[in-house]
Amino acid sequence: QIKACLFDLDGVIVDTAKYHYIAWKELASNLGFEFTEEDNERLKGVSRMTSLNILLEIGGITLSDEEKHRLAEKKNENYRTFILKMQPDEILDGAKEFLQELKAKGIKIALGSASKNAMTILERLELTELFEAIIDGTKVTEAKPNPEVFLKGAEALNVDPSECVVFEDAEAGVEAALAGNMKCVGIGSPVVLGKANLVIDGLHQMTYEKLMELN
Ligand code: BG6
Ligand code: MG
Repeated sequence: QIKACLFDLDGVIVDTAKYHYIAWKELASNLGFEFTEEDNERLKGVSRMTSLNILLEIGGITLSDEEKHRLAEKKNENYRTFILKMQPDEILDGAKEFLQELKAKGIKIALGSASKNAMTILERLELTELFEAIIDGTKVTEAKPNPEVFLKGAEALNVDPSECVVFEDAEAGVEAALAGNMKCVGIGSPVVLGKANLVIDGLHQMTYEKLMELN
């Protein structure tokens, strides 16, 4: 019996990838190499430090841990100038409506995001109050595909993982959900998210009835 839904943030509720892209591209440019939109795809769902490591690998650059932390911090400052200006109209189509529908039907809702900026983003979008539990990058030690972020969400909602459905746009996130013994709805391409129980284009296609069909 499905009792709870756990949502990834970036790419599911809001498109922050475009801001991450601008900030990573600028960093790469300062380091003297090109960072493309295709490269940016590899950073979806991946933690900040792992993202930097992938970027440096693309540029063929090796740096000390100290220097890496400095650059990650710099990138984040740049990224935050964008998210601090976000408005509620940037919420992806149908996301807020689906969250409200779930709430009305008594389904519990939690956030399960790798981002350390999740609280800032939810506040800017005026969505914080809809979530009963918020597990973000500041609360986990293991990155997706490790299921930690979702297991902590289930625990906070006081439900069994088998009673949870996860909404994810990243392959690593789908794997995390399944590894946690949860059902998963993929948001995006069936080619990338084929392991999910259902794949849709966006939350505008989701309803309580479709959720119950996953039972
Ligand atoms: C994920 C994004 O949600 O959060 C990744 O998909 C991002 O692209 C990661 O790198 C970490 O985000 P932040 O905000 O902590 O740098
Ligand atoms: Mg995501």
